[in-house]
Amino acid sequence: MDMWKFYDITHREHIVCNPTSIEKLEQLVSLVRLKPDAHVLEIATGKGEFIIRLAERYGVEGVGVDLSPYYIADAKGKHRKRAPDARLVFLEMDGAEYKPEKPESFDLVACIGASWIYGGHRGTLKALEGMAAQKSWIVVGEPYWRHEPEREYLEAIEEKRSSFGTHSENAEAGKEFGLELAYTLVSSQDDWDRYEGLQWYAAEEWASGHAADPDVPELLKRVRQGKAAYLRWGRETLGWAIYVFKKGAFGREQAA
Ligand SMILES: C[S@@+](CC[C@H](N)C(=O)[O-])C[C@H]1O[C@@H](n2cnc3c(N)ncnc32)[C@H](O)[C@@H]1O
Repeated sequence: MDMWKFYDITHREHIVCNPTSIEKLEQLVSLVRLKPDAHVLEIATGKGEFIIRLAERYGVEGVGVDLSPYYIADAKGKHRKRAPDARLVFLEMDGAEYKPEKPESFDLVACIGASWIYGGHRGTLKALEGMAAQKSWIVVGEPYWRHEPEREYLEAIEEKRSSFGTHSENAEAGKEFGLELAYTLVSSQDDWDRYEGLQWYAAEEWASGHAADPDVPELLKRVRQGKAAYLRWGRETLGWAIYVFKKGAFGREQAA
């Protein structure tokens, strides 16, 4: 089954495609306090909700990059509907290939929930740091281990222990790149349940309405296996947080 079709169907009910609540996203938008002439970049922008909220709140200019044709179409549609005058561009491309016109030029650079693009959390911080101006924000969303994962869980989700850090490891990693952690938005179990549950719901609803689609069996198999792994292990094992770093914070002008 086409990967982008799978994610389009399973995330139809989601406004943000990560386990952060809308209230926490709004808090993040409030905290970053950008000027109207600020430039923002979001790698793996998904349906563009974060960057569109930044444009609505502050009038900033921005670039959203995502590889999914479905999500880029959703983001462009939201842009036209909610913020038609906002100077936003959405690019359908691999985030790893995106090169800014000028290095160290953005006032906020984000990559929420797609650190594989840069080979993991550290690689993401390094790449985003290279595109961020002095006195800017670097915002990343990343899973973390709440406790040591069971081998069966790792096998079920096809991840390694080394795929993610603990919460404190994720938070501390910024120091290696001269970044100061300014805030964290840590998802609650309710946030996770909503993120996971909406995928089960969306898949079952779509399958009921598209019984003749040849992708139904594979889609339901994958979603139901993911549901079982989440209920058996993931709910107690994997956390999620958005880490808000400051580049050029007082006393951290140089990488440690
Ligand atoms: C977990 S979702 C997060 C989306 C968005 N940041 C959000 O929080 O709503 C991961 C996103 O990464 C995108 N993606 C996956 N691989 C990518 C790549 N190589 N380059 C750009 N985007 C990619 C997917 O299409 C999806 O939108």
